[in-house]
Amino acid sequence: MKAIIISQPGGPEVLRMEERPTPQPADNQVLIKVYAAGINRPDVFQRKGNYPPPAWAPQDIPGLEVAGIIEQVGHQVTNWKKGDAVCALLAGGGYAQYAIAQAGHCLPVPNGFDFVQAASLPETVFTVWHNAFQRGKLIEGENFLVHGGTSGIGITAIQLAKAFGAKVFTTAGSDEKCNACLGLGADIGINYKTEDFEENLKSEGVDAILDMVGGDYIPKNIRLLREDGRLVFINTMKGSKLEGTEVDFGLIMKKRLTITGSTLRNRSDEFKTELANEILDNVWPVINSGKFKTVIAAQFPMNEASQAHALMETSDHIGKIILVNEWAS
Ligand SMILES: NC(=O)c1ccc[n+]([C@@H]2O[C@H](COP(=O)([O-])OP(=O)(O)OC[C@H]3O[C@@H](n4cnc5c(N)ncnc54)[C@H](OP(=O)(O)O)[C@@H]3O)[C@@H](O)[C@H]2O)c1
Repeated sequence: MKAIIISQPGGPEVLRMEERPTPQPADNQVLIKVYAAGINRPDVFQRKGNYPPPAWAPQDIPGLEVAGIIEQVGHQVTNWKKGDAVCALLAGGGYAQYAIAQAGHCLPVPNGFDFVQAASLPETVFTVWHNAFQRGKLIEGENFLVHGGTSGIGITAIQLAKAFGAKVFTTAGSDEKCNACLGLGADIGINYKTEDFEENLKSEGVDAILDMVGGDYIPKNIRLLREDGRLVFINTMKGSKLEGTEVDFGLIMKKRLTITGSTLRNRSDEFKTELANEILDNVWPVINSGKFKTVIAAQFPMNEASQAHALMETSDHIGKIILVNEWAS
C-alpha cells in the first residue's frame, strides 16, 4: 500500500510517500480502507520528533483518525463486518491507503456525513468528551471557557458544550476567528491579541476551562475559576513551566479548584473502548441530530500531506484540515 511516512524529524518536507506492506488485523482489530484522514496538531509535533508514538503504534506513519470502509475483520470482531462505513480513532498510521484500528475504537459514519466530515471527528470528539465532560465535569448551566476556539479541538468543544447546555466563552487569535466561534454557538469570542480574556470574563466567572495554551494563561485561568472550578490541560503550547509568572496556590484551596489534564494517545485500548461507547451513547445522538457542524478548513490529496502540515503550522486555518485518499478506488 501507499503511505505517507516521516522520513526523519523535521519540517513538512520530511513527509514522503512510500510503499509499505498492507497491515493485517489482529483478533480484535479491523483493517480500514482509508478514504479520508484527519490532521491534528499532535501529528506536527510527532513529525518534528517531539511526540514519539507509543511502542505499539506505527512508528513512522502519522495519522490519529480516519474514515473509510472496513476491508477485513479480526477473528474475534463481532460488532463490525467487511463493507461497514466507519470513522476510527488510531494510535497512528492514518496517512495511508489502509489503516488498522481496534474494533472498539470505531464508530459508524454519522447520518448524512461523507468520509471527509467523518474523518474530522474522532480525535477531537474523544479528547473533548474525556477532558471537558469526564475530567472537567461540565454540566448544563455552567460557564465553560475553551482556548483556541477555532482549532479542531475548539470547534468541537464549543459545539458540544453548547449542545449540553453550557454558556461558552472562547479565545482566538483574530476577529475573523472569533466570529467563526460565534457562528458555532459560542456566547463570547475574545481576540486575545487585542483583549485580555481575564479582564473580559472576570465579571462572569468560569466553572470549567479546557486549555491548550498554558504559560501565562495558567494564573489567569486560576483567577477566573469560580468555586469548585476545574482547569483541564490538553497541551501547554506556551510552556508548561511558570517562567516569569506566579500562581497563587491559596486560590486552589480557597475556591476548592481541581487542576488536571490528560493525553489521549498513550491511554490503554480498554480505556479508549469505554470512551468510544460513552461517545456513541452521548455524543453520536447530538451529531446524528444535525446540531453539530463539521468545519473543514481545507482538503489535500494524501500525497500533499506536507502542504497540509505547512498550512497547519501557519495557524491561519479555521477548523480541520483533512487528507483525501486519492489512492482509494
Ligand atoms: N491531550 C490530548 O489528548 C490532545 C489531543 C488532541 C489535541 N491536543 C492538543 O490540542 C491542541 C489543538 O489541537 P488541534 O489539532 O485542534 O490544533 P489546531 O487545529 O492546529 O489548532 C491550534 C490552534 O491553537 C492556537 N494557538 C494558541 N496558542 C498557540 C501557540 N503558542 N502556538 C500555536 N498555536 C497556538 C492557534 O490559533 P490562534 O490563532 O487562535 O492562536 C491554532 O490555530 C493542540 O495543542 C494539540 O496538541 C491534545
